[in-house]
Amino acid sequence: MNSRLLGRTGQKVSEIGFGAWGIGKSWWGKTDDTESLRSLRRAIELGVTFFDTAYVYGDGHSEQLIHQAFRETRGRYFVATKCPPKNMGWPADPRTPLKEAFPEDWMTSCTERSLQNLGTDCLDLQQFHVWTDAWVDQDEWKNTVAKLKKQGKIRWFGVSINDLDPDSALQLVESGLVDTVQVIYNIFEQAPAKSLFPLCQKMNVGVIVRVPLDEGGLSGTLTPQTKFEKEDFRSNYFAEGRLAETCARVEKLKPLLESYAPTIPELALKFILGHPAVSVVIPGMRRVKNVEINTRISGSAPLPKDVLQELKKHAWKRTRHPIV
Ligand SMILES: NC(=O)c1ccc[n+]([C@@H]2O[C@H](COP(=O)([O-])OP(=O)(O)OC[C@H]3O[C@@H](n4cnc5c(N)ncnc54)[C@H](OP(=O)(O)O)[C@@H]3O)[C@@H](O)[C@H]2O)c1
Repeated sequence: MNSRLLGRTGQKVSEIGFGAWGIGKSWWGKTDDTESLRSLRRAIELGVTFFDTAYVYGDGHSEQLIHQAFRETRGRYFVATKCPPKNMGWPADPRTPLKEAFPEDWMTSCTERSLQNLGTDCLDLQQFHVWTDAWVDQDEWKNTVAKLKKQGKIRWFGVSINDLDPDSALQLVESGLVDTVQVIYNIFEQAPAKSLFPLCQKMNVGVIVRVPLDEGGLSGTLTPQTKFEKEDFRSNYFAEGRLAETCARVEKLKPLLESYAPTIPELALKFILGHPAVSVVIPGMRRVKNVEINTRISGSAPLPKDVLQELKKHAWKRTRHPIV
């Protein structure tokens, strides 16, 4: 497993990380804790050292499973968690006063809960689960981050950027106030490469890439007939013709499959790792099989330059990332 630097944190983390939303058991339909724990343990065995979670992933359930896997394997690795906005508003709206989203008492109590769930005294990385640059000049969140760092409750601070709106954190990155950003970047959603990534490189801000497989759209397992359980948010995400269009677009990627990327998920993850601004990519992995496939990608042949170039033509401009 190759490592990369997580920006100014100076920490080396595995370039394939573990996305732990699905294992939280909320939003993804039937999910089995036993299999989730096997996946976490297998990921650790195969060299994964970066885990992305959030308090809202099952009200702490995802954090608790990560803690359990660390206890069982007697290891402790880099964990990035997230503080939800107090108003539970996704995406962040620039008209929302900061007080309604991230007041000091809320940030402090969410941090305490995550510390408890993860069984640690200090969070490696606390992230705001939403962000708008309308908040960049306000002092309360900055003072609270500084206080939590000083108290030793968080080591580094980052934000998770609104879906499909990578430019909504440019001022924050430019301000030098964050250590990392988390953003959607994949074969379909390539907008971060335009302004966000070069700025992160200039400011030495770590880049955590989420939704690398387009919530399964780039998993190579969907067909136009795929049906999702009612409790699986993807019954909505792939509604209104999006499933059929996704499958048609995936068909157009198949001529690019070669020995360096024989399957769609391998092509998708290698595309992301092909960008030098990326510190870590965090596919969601509830199944051991997927952990094994995805971890194998690191260290194997990268995509040739002409393939990376060709993949730029497969960007798909969408304005909506429907979760509910
Ligand atoms: N706002 C935010 O901050 C935010 C929002 C979304 C996601 N995230 C973070 O980003 C992570 C990744 O995003 P995501 O989980 O939503 O979506 P994703 O990684 O794009 O897709 C996850 C799906 O792909 C499947 N998969 C993984 N590897 C595969 C492989 N090799 N072959 C076939 N299928 C494969 C998974 O299956 P199984 O699960 O069945 O193994 C799951 O169904 C999350 O887990 C979370 O940590 C953050």
